[in-house]
Amino acid sequence: MSQLKLSEEGWSNQTIFILAAIGSAVGLGNLWKFPYITGENGGGAFVLVYLACILLIGIPVLLSELALGRAGQANPVQSMANLSRQNSASPLWFLLGLNGVLAAALILSFYTVVAGWGAAYFFESLQGAFIDITPDQAGTHFEGLLHNPYELMFWHSALSLLTAIVVAKGVKSGIERAISFLMPGLLLILLVLLGYATTTGAFGQSFGFLFYPDFTKLSWAAVLTAMGHAFFTLSIGLGTMMVYGSYLSRKHSIVKAGMWIAFADTLVALLAGLVIFSIVFANGLQAGSGPGLLFQTLPIAFGQMTGGWFFGTLFFALVVMAALSSSISLLEPAVSWFEQNWDIKRLKAAWLLGFIIWVVGIGSVLSFNDWADVHFLGERNFFESVDFLTANIMLPLGGLLISVFVAWVMKQEQRYAEIELEQGAMKWLLMDLRWIAPVAILIVFATNLVGAESTWVMVTVALVVYAVYVVNAIRNGHLNG
Ligand code: PFF
Repeated sequence: MSQLKLSEEGWSNQTIFILAAIGSAVGLGNLWKFPYITGENGGGAFVLVYLACILLIGIPVLLSELALGRAGQANPVQSMANLSRQNSASPLWFLLGLNGVLAAALILSFYTVVAGWGAAYFFESLQGAFIDITPDQAGTHFEGLLHNPYELMFWHSALSLLTAIVVAKGVKSGIERAISFLMPGLLLILLVLLGYATTTGAFGQSFGFLFYPDFTKLSWAAVLTAMGHAFFTLSIGLGTMMVYGSYLSRKHSIVKAGMWIAFADTLVALLAGLVIFSIVFANGLQAGSGPGLLFQTLPIAFGQMTGGWFFGTLFFALVVMAALSSSISLLEPAVSWFEQNWDIKRLKAAWLLGFIIWVVGIGSVLSFNDWADVHFLGERNFFESVDFLTANIMLPLGGLLISVFVAWVMKQEQRYAEIELEQGAMKWLLMDLRWIAPVAILIVFATNLVGAESTWVMVTVALVVYAVYVVNAIRNGHLNG
């Protein structure tokens, strides 16, 4: 970490920054994961818990992460190094940034693989492959894709390539340009699909499923899933929002931006859910079909409906566009780290990192076929291991440390300078960041780490460790605010 450069290239304006951050947040998490976990967990009550998680944990951590980026003025690793110096804290805080950079790169390695399924489906749908498809055929079709490493490799490579091309061009000529074409397209397609959903005859049923809470269907595991998903969907905990925040001018408001990001992300998830369940219910299919909801259930529905060819193709275009605006944000933290700390030109950094991440992604490609039974972490294959490591460990760890830094370590003046809230609202935010977000994250973290059997032991240990940390922080005069 010899040369110390700051983020120089900023966003052209606040709108494009908000759009890029929304682009990062809106992705496979909204279109693929949210609908299927909602389906698996019985609908309304799960949605309610998810909304509470966005409000109580997601938004506070999002504002904190953006603030850390703008205050640190650099990539996540350097930002944390700068901030620990400014706040006389341990230099080891740079590890929080490093955790983020690594997690984002790891997520990207499989994100392009899953996005590749969307790309394959887009082209197949375009060619009419799903017209009149039977449930059996749809199952075999999806299996056929997963069992074909060459096809998966092709799409994984195509999406990795597109991601690297955009990031290599930089913030203004790469990310901004891609975003200004992807986001309006995304909105337009979503609105067309929503219009279509209202004509299916099952829009009301879909609405009821998403918004009528039946708490008997809610389990403790569902609450944990909702919390974990709130992080993933808002792209928080791993440095993406930090690096986007570092390009944000001081003239702009982090609070305003954060609210827009959270609002748009939640709205897209709910609208996607409404569209998908309307189509699924209208065709007498099941909501709770798991990860195959998008790639097995939905094609059957499109295949049966009038206009299904057109709307199906449009739907998978939406999936690819949303995934691409997220994948570029997953590559940016590592590229800016290479550029700023290791003095490697952006072009070279983007290609080099893109290549390394692509190679790691091959492990995920093979997890669905040749390596399906090769185990890495415990009983998990490669894809499941990377997913577990990032979603269950690195992401909550990142979120926890972000809230701890802003709540306990950051000086009050810096907090007010970055997060433009008046005193009363800031008190609420701080209370949340000190007592609600970290405790909730610790519970998820502990549970994910050990599994349901010994959860309470781990939760207790985690809470005691946090309590000791807090008491220590207060003793050392770190109770800022
Ligand atoms: N938020 C994205 C989604 O919902 O698909 C995924 C993601 C993108 C997670 C960027 C994390 C990130 F840094």
